[in-house]
Amino acid sequence: KIIPVIMAGGKGTRLWPLSRASAPKQFIQFVGDRTLFQATLSRVSDPDLYEPPVVVTNEDFRFLVAEQARELGVTLAGTLLEPMARNTAAAIAAAAAFVADRSGEDAVLQVLASDHEIVADERYFQAIQTARDTARAGKLVTFGIDPAEPATGYGYIEIGQALPGGAHAVKAFVEKPVLAEAERMLAQGGFYWNSGIFMFTAGQVLQEMEAYASEVAAAARESVEKAVADLDFIRLDASAFARSPDISVDYAIMEKTGNAAVVPSSFTWSDLGSWDAVWKLGARDEAGNVTSGNATLLDTKNSLVMSRTSHLAVQGLENVAVIASEDAVYVGRLENSQNVGKLVKQLAAAK
Ligand code: GDD
Ligand code: MG
Repeated sequence: KIIPVIMAGGKGTRLWPLSRASAPKQFIQFVGDRTLFQATLSRVSDPDLYEPPVVVTNEDFRFLVAEQARELGVTLAGTLLEPMARNTAAAIAAAAAFVADRSGEDAVLQVLASDHEIVADERYFQAIQTARDTARAGKLVTFGIDPAEPATGYGYIEIGQALPGGAHAVKAFVEKPVLAEAERMLAQGGFYWNSGIFMFTAGQVLQEMEAYASEVAAAARESVEKAVADLDFIRLDASAFARSPDISVDYAIMEKTGNAAVVPSSFTWSDLGSWDAVWKLGARDEAGNVTSGNATLLDTKNSLVMSRTSHLAVQGLENVAVIASEDAVYVGRLENSQNVGKLVKQLAAAK
């Protein structure tokens, strides 16, 4: 069976001010009656296919994880707690070392982001089965999504030769290209977006980490060896974990390895990463507006207006996001959504 590893330690700064340092986007309800983290848990709940999930998150979010899992009646195999944020390479390496100790190097991991909106239908589970077989054969498996536009917030996968079982080799992996390069890849064809879901055996991903990101691998292994268990929480050793470079798995190994595979996928997928993605996914009215909470619009088009508190009145604007939380308001152009994280850094520095 597959061991799910859910990454739930991101800060989600591009969705400020609804996503906050104390409760980032994965723990918030954007659409429907579940948080994104809970929706992720329910995608790995089939006991015929999956073992209980391992969650990797920041120390600060441990009660959000425990409470939201409890609400769904889900028992976790363990929650690995990072003493400080070191990005996804370290999170995945620690989870792989933890699983390798418990279940052996051949255990197949499915690493899931917790900020995705996915329709888990027949097509989705078909892709998962193909990926599992390919991971067992020793590959680092990605899922390729048909690119709808030259977005710069994703990784791009160039498809290579067919492998036995339905997956393909990865010819090239390009994380977060600049716009001109994304446009070139779309024009050329043969590229997919990286979905941010991965499958590999624990032993294989640790081996690749050692080859291409040895400091990450060493820090993660030692932080697991010296970890301290506290109920279901496993506290990774702080001085060991701190030694890991801050790098995402995409830059650390996926761009470098020659051992990656891609399963071209047609399931419905969206990374709820930024306000333009929320707008695209929302129910648009005839003027192209998506609203939630108290909002009144006049002569306004193709905009996202969300309020958790005061009444928002918007007039004469196009392609903007106006987002009000309990104590902050964001106003910006939708096409600049990828830069909200920069603004939040500036805010933090000004405090
Ligand atoms: N535990 C832990 N620790 N989780 C983290 C950390 C961390 O330090 N940083 C991020 N995460 C979690 C986030 O909560 C999210 O669920 C997932 O890891 C991915 O992080 P993002 O910050 O959302 O990554 P991204 O969207 O910029 O890029 C990745 O996903 C894209 C698709 O959604 C890359 O893999 C891209 O290649 C990919 O296209
Ligand atoms: Mg994301």
